[in-house]
Parts: sequence; structure tokens; C-alpha cells
Amino acid sequence: MKPVSTTLNIQIIMKVPKSALGAFVSVILLSIFFANIINLISTTLVHPKDHTKERFFKIGDKFDNLIWILQITDIHVSIFQDPSRITEFKEFCHYTIDRIRPSLVLASGDLTDAKTKDAIGSQQHEPEWRHYRDILKEYDITNKTRWLDIRGNHDNFNVADIKSKQNYFSNYSVQGKEHPRSYMIQLRKGKILYSFIGVDACLEPGPRRPFNFVGVIDEAEVQQINKLIKKAGESGSNYTIWFGHFPTSCILSSGSENIRDLIKKDKNGMVYVCGHLHTLGGLIPSMYSMQKGGFLELELGDWKDNRMYRLLTIDHGMFSFVDIPHRSWPVGVVTNPKHALFLNPLKENLENIQQSTHIRVLAFSLARIRTVRVRVDHEPWTDCKHIKGPLYVVSWDPQRYSSGLHQIELFVKDIDGRELYKSQPFSLDGTRLSFGVLPRIALMSNASDIFQGFFISTVIIYSLPLFLLKYFHNSILGNEKRLKARDNCLNKWLKKLWVLTTVDRIFWPVILYPIYLMIGPWSVGYIVEDHIGVIFAWGIFVNGAFLPGSFTYMYGFIQLVTFQLPFTLIMVNLIYYRFQQLSLKSGKKLKWKESVWLHLPFSVVFTTQVIMAYLFWLAYGALAFFLGPLRTWSLVLASVLYFWALHLPENHLRKATEVLLTEDDPSQAEVYLEPTKSEKNS
Ligand SMILES: *[C@@H]1O[C@H](CO)[C@@H](O)[C@H](O)[C@H]1NC(C)=O
Ligand SMILES: *[C@@H]1O[C@H](CO)[C@@H](O)[C@H](O)[C@H]1NC(C)=O
Repeated sequence: MKPVSTTLNIQIIMKVPKSALGAFVSVILLSIFFANIINLISTTLVHPKDHTKERFFKIGDKFDNLIWILQITDIHVSIFQDPSRITEFKEFCHYTIDRIRPSLVLASGDLTDAKTKDAIGSQQHEPEWRHYRDILKEYDITNKTRWLDIRGNHDNFNVADIKSKQNYFSNYSVQGKEHPRSYMIQLRKGKILYSFIGVDACLEPGPRRPFNFVGVIDEAEVQQINKLIKKAGESGSNYTIWFGHFPTSCILSSGSENIRDLIKKDKNGMVYVCGHLHTLGGLIPSMYSMQKGGFLELELGDWKDNRMYRLLTIDHGMFSFVDIPHRSWPVGVVTNPKHALFLNPLKENLENIQQSTHIRVLAFSLARIRTVRVRVDHEPWTDCKHIKGPLYVVSWDPQRYSSGLHQIELFVKDIDGRELYKSQPFSLDGTRLSFGVLPRIALMSNASDIFQGFFISTVIIYSLPLFLLKYFHNSILGNEKRLKARDNCLNKWLKKLWVLTTVDRIFWPVILYPIYLMIGPWSVGYIVEDHIGVIFAWGIFVNGAFLPGSFTYMYGFIQLVTFQLPFTLIMVNLIYYRFQQLSLKSGKKLKWKESVWLHLPFSVVFTTQVIMAYLFWLAYGALAFFLGPLRTWSLVLASVLYFWALHLPENHLRKATEVLLTEDDPSQAEVYLEPTKSEKNS
């Protein structure tokens, strides 16, 4: 009887029913995975009570029930980089604040850059903080508006705790003396009380970068924030604007509640504004979403490179905002009817728009404003009347637009000829638009979970096939099936991989190293000031504190992708090369060109790792470099393994020979495997 020839791929490992089962399980797992993702980023609101009834206001042409404020984030005042960052920040403090005259400015963290000159290491520089303080003083900011600054991760690089001398925030910022961490400032305008709650999720202690990327609120911070919410409620506050440096996706909680649940508890919470992600380098310029707890979350592009700032306004209970590049004038925002995308049915009463008598616009410019015009749905343009301050209005009949989406266009021109034109959708029946998928993922997921997912799944994807091949090596030999390799790339690689798994001396180090990365210490060094700490994938111990793992996982993932995976492929190739060299008994010397080709990939990967190890030195110092299994020791390990593989004695390849007998013809050796004994007999 002729045995069925089986192609050398995974199917020989899994018999058909098993593979069908495997496929079935994979489909189920994938569906669960995607269902979870979709659920995670769905913007269906879940909130116990609807408070909008209390928020009915007749919107007319009066200059009341109105507040406008500014936000600026990630200023990164630096003594090494980009001096225009500072000079333009002066312009912001001068012209922008003078023209807009906001009731208040939120400066949501990363006030200073705190990097060393090489831009890799990190520490607090007092001169940067002095710049920050002096600029605010020079332009008399605290006399013109209220400046609410809060720390970001950069303001917390290498800061052991808030009492540390390195915590310059407490000396040089506006709020730091009185409010070292999360705080609330309230502002009364007319009959309305506005609350501003700042969330400080900075790590304590604050490591040097890069392991200081994701924030944490501990139980003490959770209790402090709960206190602020209670205080806001008891004081009869009408609206809360939440701000902080980190998006909620980048705030872990080691306390009893997470940040989204906390903000959700605040029935007046309209919005949480933050920075930190710098629009992900321009990938997500409009990083906005609606959280399930019934508040908007809006990330603002950085001042550092993008020179962005934000105007936020609450006009008769309706929240609007606009993100503006520095020096772009005029600035204008239509507050009624507000932008349909940002309607919050749990916090805003739609009847406000339906029963309003006027379209309302706030407009600002460097020079006096000459014209403010609007038009709805391509009807003729109408001029708005100036009421007071930045407020311009024109009467309208909202009943004409009672269903579906409509468009409102705004045109503003100042006496110097600067012009603004913009167009936005609105709706009176609550028709909502949906936020983009990327912003939703960035703001509604949990960064730590994503990093951890990347890391762990890479370890599994990496080690599982190797283990399987090793395990099935014996059973395949036992089955004495004929193995015929098709001459395609995948099978070739599979075959080579297989050879590697039979060489124990190489296999075990190669497979155990990534597993070690999941468990063991990565490095020991000066993590914060002069405190020695230990870094693991799952967290950092330093100065008597434990910081849960988060960005560490991302770092581990990068290590796997840039080093472990390519290195393993190189070893696979090298051992197969050695195997052929021995089995073909070809003692011939490599030509220099072949030699280069053989060693080039390793040189590239090795050099990259040397550079990464050097960057690690810059980040955490010499001690962390030398006591570093993650970076430095992996270089040693790789060199040893590479040397071993090059000089592997024949007896180490015996097992491989059992499976992969090659024919005399070296070209055939690549393609066919020798029939086993039983088949020859049949
Ligand atoms: C605030 O501004 C007023 C008027 O311009 C000025 O007289 C006063 O000295 C300023 N206060 C501070 C603290 O700079
Ligand atoms: C502001 O809140 C207080 C207390 O909840 C309430 O009595 C008052 O009517 C509110 N005012 C406005 C204008 O919403």
C-alpha cells in the first residue's frame, strides 16, 4: 500500500479533525476579541440618570450664561531644543491671551521638557522651570486670567516624590504651591458656578524616561478626586470641566475606582480635556471621543511641535470648542447651534437649540472685527450683530431645520483683512455623528492592556511553533510517515526551523530568553534620582514603591521585534547552513562575498542592539547598562550562540539528520527528504 504523501506543513502536525477544531476555536476567539473591541469603543452612553431637564435655557441674544476658556498642553519649555517654542509661547501669553481674554487657562502638563541634551536621558532642569515662571510673570498672566497648570510625565521625570527638591512644579508653577496634585478651582460668573477639576496621575516615584509614560492613580488619589467631586456637588456647581495630562486610556488605577468611573460620577462633568499623545505624531489630528460614562474626551495637539491651543466654551449649557494653530486669526466658534458630533444627550438639553431665537458666534481677532456672517444650508448669508465682547448673534427660525443634519457656515473678517471660514453640521433632533475609529481606540481603550497584549501574544506566537516542532519531532519520527517538502518558501523555512529545534544547545537558550523576559528582572539601576530600582516586564520596584507594568510591555515588545525575532531567524539559517556544510561534507571555504552575506544580517541586528543598549545607558546610567539582562546581556548571549552555531560539532546535528536526510545532490537536499525505511520496503 502506498502511503499518502503529506506535504510538510502544519497539517502533518494537526490531523484534520484537530485542525478543524483549531480553526473553529480560532474563529470563536477572534469573534470574542473583535466583539470586545467593538464594545470597548462603542459610544453608546450608559448613565444612570439624565440631568438635561434641569438644563433648559432660552437661548437668545443676551451676553449671559456664557464662559470661554483656553487650554494649552505639552509646552515642553526646553533649554536645549527649539528656542521658538519659548518665543512663541510668549506670543501666546501676550497676544492670544490679550485678544481672547479667557476666564481661565488650563495648562495640561509637560510644562517643561526635562530631557538631557542628547534628548534620551531625562532630568529636571531648574532653568526650564525658571523660564516657564518668568514668562508667565513677564506677561502678568495671573493678573489677566486664572492659570491652572498641572503636571505631566515630563514634569515628573526623575522626581522621587512631591516633596523632593527635584519637584520644581511646587516652586515654579502657578498652582503647585497650593495644589501639589489633583485639585479643583471654581469660578462664578453671574449666577453660574463652574468647577475645574485637574487630575494629576503622575507616577510616584517618577522614573526617568522611557518607563514613565503611563500614569497611575492610587487609592489616595482616588479618594482625593472623590472629595473634589463631592465638594463640587455640595457647592452647587453647575458645570465641571475636567482636565489632566494623560488621556484616560493612559491612566491606570491601583485604587478602588478608575478615572472614567470617577468622572462619570460627576453629574455635571461635561468634558475631560488632556494632552500627552501629541495627536500621535499627526496620525490622529482630531483625537476626540464620547466616553460611555457620558462625557466628551478631547485630546489636544501639543504646543511643543504643533503649536496648538484650544478654545472651550459653555454657552447656555451647550459645550463647544475649537482647536487652533498658533497665529491663526480670526478665531471663531458657533456656540448655537453647536456642532452635531459633540452633542451630549446626557448633559445637554436639545430643546435649548430647538427653542432658541438666535444663532450665536464667538469671534476674536488681532484687529477689530468687521464682519461676522453665517448661512444655513446654502441659504443667503446673513450678517451677525455684535452684542458684547466676542459675542455675535443673528435671529433664526430653528423649526425649519427640525429633522436630520444641516450645515452652518461661518465667515469672519477683521479690519486688516484676515479671514476665517468654516462649516459644521448641526442637528435639532439629536441626530448624532460618529467619532472616528482611531480616536476611539486611542481614547477608549486601555494603553496598558494593549501593550501587554502585544508583548504576550508576540512571546506566544514566537515560542509556540518552536515548541510544537520540538514536541512533534519525536512523534513524526515514530509515525514514520513520508515527508516530502514542497519547494516553497514557507516549507523551506519550516524545515530550517525544525532543524534548529533539534539542536538543544541552541534551542533552549533561544526559547527560554523571551520567557525570561516575561518573568525575570530586566535591569537594575538608578531609576529615580539616587534610588536603585529593579525593572520587570510586570512592574518596577523603586524607593519602596511598586509601579505596575505598562509601557514596559511595549518596550519588551520592541525588544522582541527588533532583536529576538530577527536573531532567531538568523540562527535558523545559520544552523541549517552548518547542517548542510557537515552533511555534504563540503569542506570548501566560503568566498568572501558569501561570507559577507552569511554574517551581514547578524551584524545589522547586533549593531542595532548595541545602539539600543547604549540608549538604555543614556536613559538609566551605567549600572543599568551593566546589570541589564534585557539589553546588554542579550548581546553576550547572542554572541555566544552565534559562535556555537558556527562551530556546531556534528554530533549535535544527529537528531536533525534523522529527520532530514538529504540526497547526494546538494540542490535536491533543499527540496526533498529521504523516504523513511518502511516506505522503501513497501
Ligand atoms: C495687575 O494689573 C494692575 C493693572 O494693570 C496693576 O496695577 C497691578 O500691579 C497688577 N498686579 C500684579 C500682581 O501684577
Ligand atoms: C446652578 O446650579 C444650582 C444648584 O444646582 C441651581 O439651583 C441653579 O438653578 C443652576 N443655575 C443654572 C443657571 O443652571
